[in-house]
Amino acid sequence: MSDWSPEKTQVKSWNEWDRLRHVIVGRADDCHIPPEEPALDAKVPEDSDMRGQWGRRPQETIDRANELLDQFANQLKARGIRVDRPDSIDHSKPVTTPDFHTDSQFGCMPPRDVLLTVGHEILEATMSYRCRWFEYLNYRPLMQRYWDEDPNFRHEAAPKPRLTDADYHPDYLSEKIGVEKRLQWAAEKFFVTTEEEPLFDAADVLRFGRDLVVQHGFTTNLKGIEWLRRHFPDHRVHTVNFPGDPYPIHIDATFTPLRPGLILNNPQRRLPEDQRGIFEKNGWEIVDAAQPAHNAPPPLCYSSTWLSMNVLVLDPKTVCVEKSEVYQAEQMDKLGMEVVEVDLRDAYAFGGGLHCCTADVYRDGDCEDYFP
Ligand code: ARG
Repeated sequence: MSDWSPEKTQVKSWNEWDRLRHVIVGRADDCHIPPEEPALDAKVPEDSDMRGQWGRRPQETIDRANELLDQFANQLKARGIRVDRPDSIDHSKPVTTPDFHTDSQFGCMPPRDVLLTVGHEILEATMSYRCRWFEYLNYRPLMQRYWDEDPNFRHEAAPKPRLTDADYHPDYLSEKIGVEKRLQWAAEKFFVTTEEEPLFDAADVLRFGRDLVVQHGFTTNLKGIEWLRRHFPDHRVHTVNFPGDPYPIHIDATFTPLRPGLILNNPQRRLPEDQRGIFEKNGWEIVDAAQPAHNAPPPLCYSSTWLSMNVLVLDPKTVCVEKSEVYQAEQMDKLGMEVVEVDLRDAYAFGGGLHCCTADVYRDGDCEDYFP
């Protein structure tokens, strides 16, 4: 039974699959390709069209992405889901702290990277790119509103990191590292971020009720995961790695829970055997995701073609899949999920797919123990 009512603001979401009632959808307004900085450079693929260029994204691409995001928001609203949108700050403004300077910011996409909803709490992540240090400001009007309207809402912010050069391994700053070397480093868990201070992006975390599964990679370090463990003392926090990923940032194009007992895993980035324990012991199935429908990401895009599996689950039987991802949709159908097609590919360049561009505010259900 749900105590949800559209008239009353409530923040609550314990997992990635219970029935979605209230969500934030990002905006492409004023999104920038930020100037070079250590963590970002390590992520931009070596053959990418984005290397060496920065500035405000072309207006026609912003308009097109906004058109698709608005359309997605309307589709969700038509299904009775409440949708809120952020207020874009001016991302052309440089950021200077006592520790670093960057000439521009990133954007108010994608919200999943910044906001981590765990139960009645929304936690603003530390972030690990300098250009994303102030990104939470895009969401502050919404957070203030939830604070005023929901007496149980816990608004939290993780300690802002200093992001000095000590946070980044200089080895990653060389122009040409090569995929082979990157894969070797990933297998050795040698990532661009150091263990100078706790760092995490919210999109490295997946919520499974009492358990949080967190990817250790470029954007989240072990101290960040330890910070989450101490911050959520009633949760079990599990660290995972996907050694097949040469650019490991954000878990949601790699590992995608669809409902209790079922997870899609990127076949190029399989979860190592020795990290499967809790899932296997509890009878969860981890299946290879279908192949992406595209051979290359769209222009000026940070992500890989595996945004195909970056789906948004609306309830344990219904899932939003990007419209052109026909193989992924076909697999969902075989897995017994009803597919809602959403046209979003032209917004991928703004930071990701259907899961990325949203952040949970309310899902039905309570905090359950799926791995007793
Ligand atoms: N690293 C992923 C890939 O390129 C993209 C993840 C995007 N997720 C996000 N929350 N921004 O395969």
